[in-house]
Amino acid sequence: MLRQEVLTLLHPSSGQHTVDATVGAGGHAAAVLEKTAPDGRLLAIDLDRASLDVARQNLKPFAGRVTFIHDGFDNLKQILNDARFPPPVAILADLGLSGLSLEDPSRGFSFQLTNSPLDMRFDPSGASGQRPPAADLVNSLRPDELERIIRQYGEERHARAITRSIIETRRRRPLQTVGDLVTAVTRVSRRRGRIHPATRTFQALRMAVNDELDRLERFLPQAIEALAADGRLAVISFHSLEDRIVKRFFRQQAAAGRVRILTKHPATPSYAEVTTNPRSRSAKLRVAVRGPHP
Ligand SMILES: C[S@@+](CC[C@H](N)C(=O)[O-])C[C@H]1O[C@@H](n2cnc3c(N)ncnc32)[C@H](O)[C@@H]1O
Repeated sequence: MLRQEVLTLLHPSSGQHTVDATVGAGGHAAAVLEKTAPDGRLLAIDLDRASLDVARQNLKPFAGRVTFIHDGFDNLKQILNDARFPPPVAILADLGLSGLSLEDPSRGFSFQLTNSPLDMRFDPSGASGQRPPAADLVNSLRPDELERIIRQYGEERHARAITRSIIETRRRRPLQTVGDLVTAVTRVSRRRGRIHPATRTFQALRMAVNDELDRLERFLPQAIEALAADGRLAVISFHSLEDRIVKRFFRQQAAAGRVRILTKHPATPSYAEVTTNPRSRSAKLRVAVRGPHP
C-alpha cells in the first residue's frame, strides 16, 4: 500500500540501514531492500509470528541483510539496543492488520469467517505480554466500558444498541465465535451501503485487544530518538484516531525544532490503488525528518 509514495518520501539509497517496524508480508521491506542494495541492513519487526514467517520466506532473496524480531514496535529502543543496530536512516510503520491475518480462519479478525474463534490478538503467543482475546472483552467488560470502546474506536453510532445486544447474548451464554458477535451486532444494526454492519465493532475490538493507540503513542518518540540525523520516519495509518496521534506528535516535535514535516497534507493512495485494493481507501501516510530546519 502506498509503496511508491513510501519510497519517494523515505528515499532509501544504497548501503543505508533501515527499520520496518511492521514488516507484515514484507512488501514494503522488499522495495526498501532493493534500494539499499548491496549491503544496507533492515531490521524487520512484527508482533505477529505468522506474518514474520511469511516475511522470512518472501525476503529470502535479501537473506543476510535482514534481522527478524518478534516483538511490538513500542519496544523499539530496547530492540535496537539488543540487536546492536546502527541508527537507521529510515523507519516505517504501516499500522493495523495484514491481509494474511485477516484471511486466517484461526485468528478471528474477519466477520466473514463466522466459525473462527473470537480472538483478534496480533500476538496470541504473548511474546510481548499476554493480552486477553476479544471473547474475554465482550464477555466480561462492564457495559459502559464496552460501549465506550465500540463508540470511540469504532466511531459506531449504534454503540449503545450493539452493547445491549451483546450483554443480552452473554447473559444466556458466552460469545465464543465470530458468528456469535456478528449475530449480536446485526440484530440491532442493519447494512448501510456497502459497509457490513459489524465492520466498526470488529475494528473497535481489534484496537482494544491489541492496545493499538497506546502502542503507537509509545512508539513515536522512540522512533524519532532512534533515527540518525536527517533520518526519516514514515507512518501509514488507517484510522482517524491513529492519524490524529501521528499528526499531533509531528506538529509538537516540529514546534520544538526536533523534526521537519515532509507531508503538510498526508499522502493518500491513488485512484488506481483504491480500485485494485479497496482496503487502502482510508490509508494516510505522514513523514517527518529528524533535525531542525537547516
Ligand atoms: C498493514 S500490515 C503491514 C504490511 C507490510 N507493510 C507489507 O508490505 O506487507 C501491519 C502489520 O503490523 C503488525 N503490527 C501491528 N501492530 C504492531 C505493533 N505494535 N508492533 C509490531 N507489529 C505490529 C501486524 O501484525 C501486521 O503484520
